[in-house]
Amino acid sequence: MKKYFVIGNPINHSLSPNLHNYWLKENNINAAYDKIKLEKNEIANFINEIKNQKISGCNVTVPFKKNVIPFLDKLSREADQTQSVNTITFEDGCTVGHNTDIFGFQKAIEATNYNIKDKKIFILGAGGVCPSIIFALNKMNVFKIIISNRTIQKAENLKTQFDNVDIVEWGNCPAFDVIINATSLGLNNEKINLNFSNTINDKLFYDTIYNPTETNFLKEGKKLGNHTENGKLMFIYQAAEAFKLWHKIEPKFNKEMFKLLEND
Ligand code: ATR
Repeated sequence: MKKYFVIGNPINHSLSPNLHNYWLKENNINAAYDKIKLEKNEIANFINEIKNQKISGCNVTVPFKKNVIPFLDKLSREADQTQSVNTITFEDGCTVGHNTDIFGFQKAIEATNYNIKDKKIFILGAGGVCPSIIFALNKMNVFKIIISNRTIQKAENLKTQFDNVDIVEWGNCPAFDVIINATSLGLNNEKINLNFSNTINDKLFYDTIYNPTETNFLKEGKKLGNHTENGKLMFIYQAAEAFKLWHKIEPKFNKEMFKLLEND
């Protein structure tokens, strides 16, 4: 039986096994998908297990999306440009790092039917998921990207990777058409201390968090009359793209599958 994993630390919260095991069963694939908590010094050994084909592939989550890169033989163009890997495959004798978060984010935004072309985008946060979001936004031809992060240095670092982003200090809220919460604020019911009351309705409030389903950030956006969307579809699309890379099958989306991700 083939074995797949998601690696990260912490990993307990991950719902990837629910989704992948469901799709494996649906498609009669003789494989299993599990989560495993690793320490940083265990990454090299783990990837070696893919190289010697004891493990068939893995997803990578926080905080290892960059740490895995030195141990891989090849990177896809998108993984290379974002320096972020969330899926590892074994192809023609090589371990290959891919980034399916970009696809996940793009598909999720497209599903909102909110046209973000030529729009002003304000991103809160500069952590692990941001390079993928910026890459996808650039692909979708947005007008401007502004970033704000508590630790400004991390926003400055992103600017060296993507020269078209602007930075504002944490606590400031510039005019925007779309605001994206890419921080972890909201996972534990925290509020984001920004004043959105000048926000005219019809904007898009997007949260990368999907558990809880509606963070305080989304609640406030909705109260002010804006469109809101959580990160669930992004999560599902990134998983579907990883599934396709490993099994060459496009998994189907259905109600039962969405139910597997309801855990709040
Ligand atoms: P990492 O920062 O290790 O990449 P992450 O989960 O990808 O981890 O990102 C967490 C994001 O949430 C960061 O942008 C973080 O801001 P800092 O870079 O300043 O740490 C942000 N974040 C977490 N807790 C926060 C808080 N209490 N206030 C503001 N931002 C917070």
